[in-house]
Amino acid sequence: MTQDKSASERMEKIVSLCKRRGFIMQSSEIYGGLNGCWDYGPLGTELKRNLKDFWWRRMVRERDDIVGMDGSILMNRQVWVASGHEATFSDPMVDCRSCKSRLRADQLSEKDGKLHCPVCGSFDLTEARAFNLMFKTYVGATEDESAITYLRPETAQAIFVQFKNVLEVSRKKVPFGIAQIGKAFRNEINPRNFTFRSREFEQMELEYFCRPEDGVELLEYWLKERLKFYEDVGISSDLLHVHKIPPEERAHYSQGTYDIEFHFAFGVQELEGVAYRTDYDLSQHQKASGKSLEYFDEETGQHFVPHVVEPSAGVDRTVLALICAGFCEETITDQKGKAETRTVLKFHPRMAPIKCGIFPLLKNNERLVGPAREIVESLRPHMMVFYDESGAIGRRYRRQDEVGTPFGVTVDFDTIGENGPSNQGTVTIRERDSMKQVRVPIGELKSFLVDRIN
Ligand code: GAP
Repeated sequence: MTQDKSASERMEKIVSLCKRRGFIMQSSEIYGGLNGCWDYGPLGTELKRNLKDFWWRRMVRERDDIVGMDGSILMNRQVWVASGHEATFSDPMVDCRSCKSRLRADQLSEKDGKLHCPVCGSFDLTEARAFNLMFKTYVGATEDESAITYLRPETAQAIFVQFKNVLEVSRKKVPFGIAQIGKAFRNEINPRNFTFRSREFEQMELEYFCRPEDGVELLEYWLKERLKFYEDVGISSDLLHVHKIPPEERAHYSQGTYDIEFHFAFGVQELEGVAYRTDYDLSQHQKASGKSLEYFDEETGQHFVPHVVEPSAGVDRTVLALICAGFCEETITDQKGKAETRTVLKFHPRMAPIKCGIFPLLKNNERLVGPAREIVESLRPHMMVFYDESGAIGRRYRRQDEVGTPFGVTVDFDTIGENGPSNQGTVTIRERDSMKQVRVPIGELKSFLVDRIN
């Protein structure tokens, strides 16, 4: 089997698992879907929430120098004029005259030395023209020029235009940052690779404001911090790649940009950009709005427009990376010597949608079911748990393996003292990856699990 074929088969299995187990589904599926839009099911929603909560914890709650904000999706059109998005936020587009497909000119490949349509193979393509990626809309009841604005294509601009307000209320001193998580929208010409390139997606962005002389060093600092973050959510460093963008490919205002890339089955692709954007954004808004966005440095007595380093990550892309990194098929042998394939999502426990499955060994035995249900209630305030009493215990473990639940707790006859007093009041905890089991007193269960999922 070629590398490409096995990679695409792996991706197909991942997409199918995502739908079958309620991680990610096509948006508006019963009407044929909407290209580039996705819905997260119960487990996908938990996974996404765990990721966003951990990012927030790392970036805001555990630090003294970063505060949060939550800006509106619709903003005054002038924001997008000043930021340069209205004039230049575009991709080059070509049309295929034969099959009418719209294609991104920079993603076409050559056949016999000429660009061709990947859909029908024709060479009959139009000249490339710029296609603005922002979704245009009208605010209010009149659909005229004065009512035009856009769905935000990035969350960052709300941070820049609120810089002064947030600085005043938070009373921070440079260097300090403003963090935000929220939806962004881009009318991508070619949404593809499952959720990787979507038209509606979420970003986790930090704008870290600093003195001009500290920008270069802080770029390196934030690259390291962000790489550590990925390790801490269970994406090992050998699945990541740092691409230093050469000066000729960087935005004109950037003094340094790194892309943090992930080895997806469909290629090595960007998860996050870490960019030193100088004072470009604040200066643009200062000029366009006529309002000072300068910072007064009490230490030096200077007024200046702060520079900014921006780590900007995609929520959906990171969720996809977590699923791809965790997906694993293993051959195991059961007690009767029969080989079977075990599908496991090896999520880091802090990312796993369900932290613990709880199983009474037998369904119709109230002496087992009662304590199992009590355990569910005692753990529920602290973590997402799942109670399952149907089917053989091995199958219940497999069902949880497939959705990445790191721990399974079984209430058995030892728990209720039927096999003597030595294990009474204890349960077995099975660990997903090693499949090893340990006995733990029910009273210690919560702290055992809490220690491992945080
Ligand atoms: N404020 C800077 C900014 O928006 P970007 O590189 O255009 O930079 C940052 O976007 C991140 O947002 C990307 O690294 C990616 O994770 C995510 N992202 C961008 N476009 C996306 C799309 N169409 N679908 C899913 N995620 C996307």
